[in-house]
Amino acid sequence: MSAYQIEVAIPDRDYTIEIAPGLLATARTIDVLQSLANKSRICIVTHPVLMKPYVSPLVEGLKERGIDPFLHVIPSGEHRKTLATVARMYDAFIEAKLDRKSLVVVVGGGVLGDAAGFAAASYLRGIRFVQIPTTLLAHVDSSVGGKTGVDLPQGKNLIGAFHQPSSVLIDPKTLQTLPMRELRAGLAEVIKYGIIYDNAFFARVDALLPRILRRDMEALSEIIARSCEIKAEVVCQDETEQGLRAILNFGHTIGHALEAITNYRRYKHGEAVAIGMVVESRIGERVGQTPAETTQALIDTLQRAKLPVAYPSDISVERVLEVAQRDKKTVGGLLRFVLPLRIGEVNVRSDVPISAIEAATQISI
Ligand code: NAD
Ligand code: GLY
Repeated sequence: MSAYQIEVAIPDRDYTIEIAPGLLATARTIDVLQSLANKSRICIVTHPVLMKPYVSPLVEGLKERGIDPFLHVIPSGEHRKTLATVARMYDAFIEAKLDRKSLVVVVGGGVLGDAAGFAAASYLRGIRFVQIPTTLLAHVDSSVGGKTGVDLPQGKNLIGAFHQPSSVLIDPKTLQTLPMRELRAGLAEVIKYGIIYDNAFFARVDALLPRILRRDMEALSEIIARSCEIKAEVVCQDETEQGLRAILNFGHTIGHALEAITNYRRYKHGEAVAIGMVVESRIGERVGQTPAETTQALIDTLQRAKLPVAYPSDISVERVLEVAQRDKKTVGGLLRFVLPLRIGEVNVRSDVPISAIEAATQISI
């Protein structure tokens, strides 16, 4: 089975992303955690569903080395990505007697990675953490790049910090237990990388879709590795999103608004992003920069991945604009959109007329 190593070369906070099917069950994972903890306390944050298949073997492996990690096991759900959840994490960290040298290990998806990453970023003004992502979305996106945070009722990820993990350990075999809807949602972010950065990768993902949906480990490892490589390339050039990193937000201006309006319950994050990418590609058409064939190719691939592509008829554009205005992606009150120029290249624009947004949401598929 293929294994990949990708360096995230941010000065003073560089780390390695390791990707290999079965990685979690190897001594390598225990070695990394033991070496980072360096005799200090470890707190593992996870969900109940992940305990038996992934966390218990990890705990056993650590115990064999004389390390007894503290466990903080919390329920799943985007609607729980809140300050209240983070406050409970602080309580757990204090109960676990974590100090400045201690290590938080997150075993879970993007919700847990973002929230526990933020707890680690702010506890004692910041302690180290390791990402062991278990969803496709977290493998390809949220575990890499150091964006951590929580939602407010007013909008997604409005509270947060940039805090890079010390290591990212990706075991594609964790996807064997992931519900199919979650696997598809993660694919939206993979398809996003093709549109924003790499034309050939877009075609490759499209060709690999049947194998990906069958959870073929070689195909999954390949797309996870290329996605992480693209994300690392972007983040290393612009860690705190002063410019280039904004391209990673393709589909997210509309997608985040749809998630907030539906109280984070109707859509998986990747599903909202899939709809958002289609709407934003259509906005690109309206402002005269995106070829119609680009939008069509995007829709075709998303539909082959069985992702939603239609803008919901019960949500008004006015409401989306109101919520999007509160998103942290606005600058000086101007809404910013990432719009395709062609497959593999996008730009960021803040001069999109409201009429273009209205028109883009009113086309039926
Ligand atoms: P999630 O974390 O809610 O996980 C989805 C569900 O799958 C949960 O119910 C979880 O318990 C379950 N699960 C996780 N791994 C499993 C496994 N291996 N087997 C069985 N069940 C499993 O959702 P997500 O899609 O991973 O993450 C979405 C979040 O990521 C959003 O909040 C989004 O804002 C955030 N995000 C952050 C970044 C970033 O750069 N920080 C990037 C993209 C997305
Ligand atoms: N997911 C967007 C980013 O990491 O910047």
